[in-house]
Amino acid sequence: MATEAYDQKRLSALLEAGIALTSELSLDAVLQKLVETAGVLTRARYAALGVIDSSGKGLERFLTHGIDPETHQAIGELPKGRGILGVLIREAKPLRLHNLSEDPHSVGFPPNHPPMRTFLGVPIMLRGVAFGNLYLAEKEDGTDFSAEDEELERLVIDLVASKTGKVFQRKRSERVDSVVDDPEVDQAVARRMGATTSLHVPLVVRERAIGVMSAHDKLGSDPRFTEDDLRLAEAFAARATIAVDLSKRVTRDALRHAVEAQELERRRLARELHDEIGQDLTSILLTLKRIEEGKTPGDIGPAAEMLRELVVTALQDVRRLAVELRPKALDDFGLVPALERLGQMVQEQTEMSVEVQERLGGERLPADVETAFYRIVQEALTNVVKHARAGTVSILLTHRDGSAAAVVEDDGQGFDPSAEHEGLGLLGIRERLGLLDGRLRIESSPGKGTTLVAEVPLR
Ligand SMILES: Nc1ncnc2c1ncn2[C@@H]1O[C@H](COP(=O)(O)OP(=O)(O)OP(=O)(O)O)[C@@H](O)[C@H]1O
Ligand SMILES: [Mg+2]
Repeated sequence: MATEAYDQKRLSALLEAGIALTSELSLDAVLQKLVETAGVLTRARYAALGVIDSSGKGLERFLTHGIDPETHQAIGELPKGRGILGVLIREAKPLRLHNLSEDPHSVGFPPNHPPMRTFLGVPIMLRGVAFGNLYLAEKEDGTDFSAEDEELERLVIDLVASKTGKVFQRKRSERVDSVVDDPEVDQAVARRMGATTSLHVPLVVRERAIGVMSAHDKLGSDPRFTEDDLRLAEAFAARATIAVDLSKRVTRDALRHAVEAQELERRRLARELHDEIGQDLTSILLTLKRIEEGKTPGDIGPAAEMLRELVVTALQDVRRLAVELRPKALDDFGLVPALERLGQMVQEQTEMSVEVQERLGGERLPADVETAFYRIVQEALTNVVKHARAGTVSILLTHRDGSAAAVVEDDGQGFDPSAEHEGLGLLGIRERLGLLDGRLRIESSPGKGTTLVAEVPLR
């Protein structure tokens, strides 16, 4: 690779890491990005980061790059920080090796570990304390890691302890008119970025910093930011923070409802398993006992007949429960046949007539939409059976203008959607749709039947 192009790539990787560090909200995501960037910059096939535990002697976290999940699993337990990794933890000095396993400190690799020869280890110091180490192995072209690689690693690491990191800690916004004169700024990084001024605003939610927004070099003749710019950025950050906080809370609430609904569903299935299948099996046992005690061959005919009936009922119950849990037809044949089967089952169990119409032009919907529609129709039908006293219910699948819809219409007694208390059924439907950016519409009024429309955009 031409040096210039290579430098360009290194620079953009660095910048990318900088952006990630200031935009990622979780420490793990930031550290993972750091590992990846370190690997790209030095052209190492494998990169890893070990976080030193509170005892200061071992590792509590180990993030890797370049090792696929299967290999990860095959290797098993994460390294504890013995051998070469231990040397790095103790001495907190960079270490470059031509061949890892030839070093006298090496304790060898666990089984299934990919072979690694060339190695570079760099300590990560955060505010003067050894936080962890970056490990790189197997430089792409087979050569040893260089002093320059070592320097680059330091650059990446410094980003973590950068100006942004400090603003994050202090939770106070800041305007820097001259980056060169700011002792907190890593000058090497600033030079590479070509930045002369900066503006940093922390995103703070209930006293806790969740991120930092940074801008460099105002456009126009004067690259310095003004107090007004700072205030504008703060106002923007405040809004962004509220949005992040709100979306987190909404996600948490939605998740809680979803878990509650699932738990309710499980409880119902458990009850059915216990009541119906449990009872079927108990009856079978009792009949068997009677046969054993009776011991008269003449009695066996009717008893066997009874046993057969009981087994048939138990089988039907098991099948029905299996279909409710996850209909095989949905995976094997798709949504329409699965709904037809569901409709048929409801029709057999009730006096209601159920019809299914498909206007999808024979095309299958994305798998997550199919599952959602199946569950939604299932709950809608349960509601019709439970509340509607309907004679007919029709299920319609359509798509138009980039969205798909499932419509369930009954001719029952209807209800007032604005007045009626919502149970977990409709809530569950809304949440399923929410996850797919879809929405629910209910048209119903007392005496006029109910139409439920579940609509999902198709991407
Ligand atoms: N097709 C329908 N016909 C008449 N009323 C309906 C229909 N669907 C829903 N409702 C009314 O809306 C209410 C809310 O339905 P929802 O499914 O959320 O709760 P639920 O069925 O009462 O309880 P859950 O689903 O948690 O077991 C019902 O109690 C019922 O009064
Ligand atoms: Mg319901």
